[in-house]
Amino acid sequence: MMPMGTGAPTTNRKGRTATRNVEETAMSHDADATPHLDFAGTTPYEDYVQADVLTHLQKPRSDDPGEMVFLVTTQVMELWFTVIVHEWETASRALDEGRVPVALDALKRSVRELEALNASWRPLGQLTPAQFNAYRGALGEGSGFQSAMYRRMEFLLGEKSASMLVPHRGAPRVHAELEKALQQPSLYDAVLRLLARRGFPVPAEVLERNLARRYEPSAAVEAVWTEIYRDPENHAEPARLGEALTDVAELVWRWRNDHLVATRRAMGAKVGTGGSAGVAWLEKRARNHVFPELWTARSHV
Ligand code: HEM
Repeated sequence: MMPMGTGAPTTNRKGRTATRNVEETAMSHDADATPHLDFAGTTPYEDYVQADVLTHLQKPRSDDPGEMVFLVTTQVMELWFTVIVHEWETASRALDEGRVPVALDALKRSVRELEALNASWRPLGQLTPAQFNAYRGALGEGSGFQSAMYRRMEFLLGEKSASMLVPHRGAPRVHAELEKALQQPSLYDAVLRLLARRGFPVPAEVLERNLARRYEPSAAVEAVWTEIYRDPENHAEPARLGEALTDVAELVWRWRNDHLVATRRAMGAKVGTGGSAGVAWLEKRARNHVFPELWTARSHV
């Protein structure tokens, strides 16, 4: 059942024109009613989902039958990145406005979405080098390293880097979106600003840091989280926020590790299509923990 048909005139099997709305749909007891078949133009489903566009965006570059799932999994992950960026931007805005429950809802949705994202590794997790080689050459220098939406996720997590804009100089819209994301406060900045407004001693140098730079861990912020985790009853909302962010951080770390293991299985220690040292480079990247003080504070509680 799609939500988009409400209120639109439709023609049913018997040729009767009906204006269906939510109430009417909810009250229908006609067990023989069948779905509507006749539409003047494209279906309301198509108008909403654009499935025709979406399912014609797959252009494999080799004759290998295994390439299709590689391409579609990558596209599916791009879509999840897009939803997750949307949730984290929603959460950041809500935090700026002091609406913590709205931020928590968005963060919790993103946790379920990250789980779905990570489950998408399944079709690619056990590729053998021969299977991957069957289409690897067709990828040329293409690499997930060049994913702009992944960079927006990283920027929102506080992992800012101006050099990550360089590959996108030739794509004005993508570059402009990334530039904006680089300059804007990250999700973690929004959390720390909220904690400061609530009276926690977040130092000025953290609050006024250069937003376009990677977030560096601070002993004072670690002490703030320690205080919150020591007394979650008195700091219920910040504690819930801390745990939601920890869920996010854990699942991001899991994505990176699943990617690393899939890569090691598919290509061993060969160099990446994007030009990096491959697994050795990814290992270094996977060592980073997002929201660092949320992990280190635990040693002091
Ligand atoms: C088994 C298939 C895959 C292999 C062997 C693989 C391999 C690699 C390698 C070697 C790198 C390092 C950069 C380079 O030199 O290319 C990389 C980076 C990356 N890949 Fe994959 N990849 C695979 C699947 C995917 C998929 C499905 C996605 C989803 C979009 C993806 C997203 C990324 C991202 C975002 C990076 C950058 C990571 C970072 O900057 O820390 N990869 N990949």
